[in-house]
Amino acid sequence: MPWTLGGLSLAIFSGLLLFSIDPEAYYINPAFRFKMLFLLLAIAFYYTMVRKATAADSRGGSIVACVSLALWALVPFGGVFIGFLGSTEYAYPVLLSVHIVALVLLGGMVVVTDLRLLGAGIRKYSVPDLMNGLRVPKRIAFGLSAVSGAVLFGANARQYSSNPWFWMKIALLALIGANYFIFRRTLYDDTGKRKLASGLSLLLWAGVIVAARGPATVKDVMHSMVDPNGDFLFQSVQTIEDEHGTREIAPHTDAEWENVRQRLMVLRDAPNFLQGRRAARPTDRSKNPEVESEPEEIQQLLDTDGWTFIRRAQRLRDAASVAMKAVDAKDKDALLLGLDGIDKACESCHLRYWYPKDKRAQEAAKADGIVE
Ligand code: HEC
Repeated sequence: MPWTLGGLSLAIFSGLLLFSIDPEAYYINPAFRFKMLFLLLAIAFYYTMVRKATAADSRGGSIVACVSLALWALVPFGGVFIGFLGSTEYAYPVLLSVHIVALVLLGGMVVVTDLRLLGAGIRKYSVPDLMNGLRVPKRIAFGLSAVSGAVLFGANARQYSSNPWFWMKIALLALIGANYFIFRRTLYDDTGKRKLASGLSLLLWAGVIVAARGPATVKDVMHSMVDPNGDFLFQSVQTIEDEHGTREIAPHTDAEWENVRQRLMVLRDAPNFLQGRRAARPTDRSKNPEVESEPEEIQQLLDTDGWTFIRRAQRLRDAASVAMKAVDAKDKDALLLGLDGIDKACESCHLRYWYPKDKRAQEAAKADGIVE
């Protein structure tokens, strides 16, 4: 009970913090609403029906347990699956959801076992009782996650095998296996080793979750690298008109020019950094699905037409190089022109990959000569 409450409070607290970053975007997102609906149902069901059933130890216990499991399983299922509605390719989201649900079940049982081994809870049950009781469900969950994982790997072998995070995850899983086999024989009698093994197991599983999140995506690179530097540059040369009259903002001192140069260097090199990345994580849903593509739509374009993406990335690199020349000459008018070129390079790539359904943006781009 204290572990359940602790876990739930942590999840709700961190969830509220995440939600507060962009409440509007989350709120309109159907995947988010689906997930929240089933999360609330699962929690409510747990604290009413499941608790009553465990207290009474009644016959209906197994039905209550099945309903509760189904509700919890639908939480990650919703997050992954809803984003694929309308597409005909259901195999991937179904497999990914099965994989995640099986891993969550396995992880839950592992955490319960490890906590008991550490002596941190569930003391009413002896270690052998707990191990024996969970053996079969653990094996089923392990089998399911291994098979779904292998099929997912098979479908995308090239991408996974060049991804260091994937190999990190496999290495951690191998260590978990080794930990299990080495300590298995001594587990019941040696308390010191038992605590070491279960502490290690918890740490390694936490590592698997971090590694499963994977490497930076195109979206991450945009968010953390391209956009902040782009924003700085677009604001470095401009004309502001307000009640105090008209002012021109431009770099003046050597330090200011140097700062502009450094930001341009990031944009010039970012294109190398973009190639070979996935568009976004499946759980990164689009904020305005009417005009913006979902990660898997963007990914499909990247997979079928990778060259166009590279060409557009090169356009950004070239535009940044042109602007660098203006910085060398400390010419603010040339810099303004260069920044316009950068802006067009951003727009040209976004129009194709990010919001191809945005009619107004497409027309504006034609008028500006961004698209050919
Ligand atoms: C080579 C292609 C390409 C270029 C060039 C490019 N972007 Fe992007 N950008 C993308 C793609 C693809 C996405 C959508 C990622 C997603 O949502 O999955 C994106 C998304 C974004 C986002 C949204 C990120 C988020 O957190 O949702 C911002 C902001 C952004 N780009 C800014 C810029 C700026 C500023 C520039 C120019 C300096 C630029 N991008 C140049 C491909 C590009």
